[in-house]
Amino acid sequence: MKTQAKLSIIVAAGLNNVIGKDGDMPWRLAADMAHFKRITTGKPVLMGRKTWQSLFVQPLPGRKNLVLSRDVNFQAPAAMVFSDLDAMISKGKALAGANGEVMVIGGGVLYEAALPLCDRVYFTRVNASPDGDTYFPALDVKTWQLVQQQPYPADDKNDHAFVTQVFEKMG
Ligand SMILES: NC(=O)c1ccc[n+]([C@@H]2O[C@H](COP(=O)([O-])OP(=O)(O)OC[C@H]3O[C@@H](n4cnc5c(N)ncnc54)[C@H](OP(=O)(O)O)[C@@H]3O)[C@@H](O)[C@H]2O)c1
Repeated sequence: MKTQAKLSIIVAAGLNNVIGKDGDMPWRLAADMAHFKRITTGKPVLMGRKTWQSLFVQPLPGRKNLVLSRDVNFQAPAAMVFSDLDAMISKGKALAGANGEVMVIGGGVLYEAALPLCDRVYFTRVNASPDGDTYFPALDVKTWQLVQQQPYPADDKNDHAFVTQVFEKMG
């Protein structure tokens, strides 16, 4: 049976739920970047204007890039710009097609708005508590069920150990 595309979040957060500092990530984790690429490639990616700018204003390759801004004149070359979250999600689902998956890739403002609408969260829990200015909201254990997890060690390309997890919305 064909169903509507899923809406998913992908995020990496510290033990203190920090996800960003000064417009950038507070760590370098090559293995998590590879995980992000594996999960998102071929899917529409939805992001806030500040996260778009943190990508140095270049779209993520192999993915349709959708950017949210209240500025109706905002230009994002090779990406689609929306000023309404619901319109952006609808377009993402249409692009993903039936049985597809739309990925919300940040940042903090977009995660906060999209979390209640999402079906799944790909959550990387980083084993560090860095200083930061942007946070991911706490996942309510009554709403989100952990269905998968895989640990990764720290090494010369990964500042900290981390665990990739998948949470599905219950009910
Ligand atoms: N650790 C991770 O997994 C991860 C992932 C992504 C990003 N990050 C980090 O997160 C930080 C950026 O996050 P952020 O929270 O500051 O910004 P953001 O969510 O990327 O973007 C916020 C912007 O999106 C637009 N926007 C948000 N809600 C809107 C709405 N309802 N309607 C219209 N436009 C809306 C506004 O743009 P305008 O101001 O143009 O109106 C707003 O300023 C950076 O440090 C980045 O490195 C971390």
